[in-house]
Amino acid sequence: MEDIVATGFRLKNGLVSVLDQQLIPREEVWVECPTLESMVHAIQSLKVRGAPAIGIAASLFVLGESMRGCDVASLLQTVKILRGSRPTAVNLMNYMDRLDRVIGESSAEWKDQLRLEVKAIVEEDFELCERIAEAGVSVVPENPRVLTHCNTGCIATAGRGTALGIVTKLHELGQNVHVYVDETRPLLQGGRLTAWELGKAGIAHTLICDNMAGMLMAHGKVDCVLVGADRIARNGDFANKIGTYSLAVLASYHNVPFYVAAPETTIDRHCPDGNSIPIEERKPEEVRGFSGALGELYWSPDNVATYNPAFDVTPAQLVSGWILDTGVKTRCDWDS
Ligand code: MRU
Repeated sequence: MEDIVATGFRLKNGLVSVLDQQLIPREEVWVECPTLESMVHAIQSLKVRGAPAIGIAASLFVLGESMRGCDVASLLQTVKILRGSRPTAVNLMNYMDRLDRVIGESSAEWKDQLRLEVKAIVEEDFELCERIAEAGVSVVPENPRVLTHCNTGCIATAGRGTALGIVTKLHELGQNVHVYVDETRPLLQGGRLTAWELGKAGIAHTLICDNMAGMLMAHGKVDCVLVGADRIARNGDFANKIGTYSLAVLASYHNVPFYVAAPETTIDRHCPDGNSIPIEERKPEEVRGFSGALGELYWSPDNVATYNPAFDVTPAQLVSGWILDTGVKTRCDWDS
């Protein structure tokens, strides 16, 4: 079977590798994930991250295991373990459920069907990103100064990204777009990954600490906020990287349009509202200082109490528009 290659992950000869997002921007290193343990570790340590990318990399791993002759029972167990490897991004669960159905049918052709399903997942995500970008261009102000949070670009998806995909599309169309990049404490996905992606794409950007967003808005320097999502509930509430909710409140106060961009695969139809979205809590070290492949530095007392939710929930009433691959939704398109 042919290789599957995206910017942040790939499947070659049945072996999954991910571009280690812990090392970017200092180094661009591909890490192989030959075992379930190594795949789960890559997901949990954010070597591969971003809601769609987590689900797709896990899907590629399942396909690789089937190519290595894994039996149906073991593969179903692998799917289950991967499904639970991170709790908030629903794309992972949606994709694992799709694969579970194909494998569980146990038809004679299940391996061929699995290959087709995984290929479809990758191709669909690529297309979804393109459609999100087109929808986004139709709704955001022209030549905008955009504020974004976390990383929602081509290493977080199979395609050009979600919120950041809109930005690259605007740039390709010749618009004069400038991006304020929230550094995104505690793990600095903005300062490390988004700044790296925008630099490579030649798009004007300015890195800020998260607590500078309010002042920028107060000074009229932000035309819109564009963020991604890890899970959207049936009423339009959504979970995204911690700090997104604060941005939505600030945007509302300053009358700055606040958009969330995501594929339909990020909507959880089983989830009535934001209160039902499980929020991942991560280890204290991430708040006490910085610990990652780039190094470790702790500036807080060793025994300080910490609180480290990786995501927060933004209520639908703070959202100006949901930019989906199926078009731009407004508040009245969701369950009330
Ligand atoms: O913990 P992360 O880095 O996986 O969190 C990622 C985000 O919150 C992104 O904004 C979201 O997954 C959208 S990615 C297209």
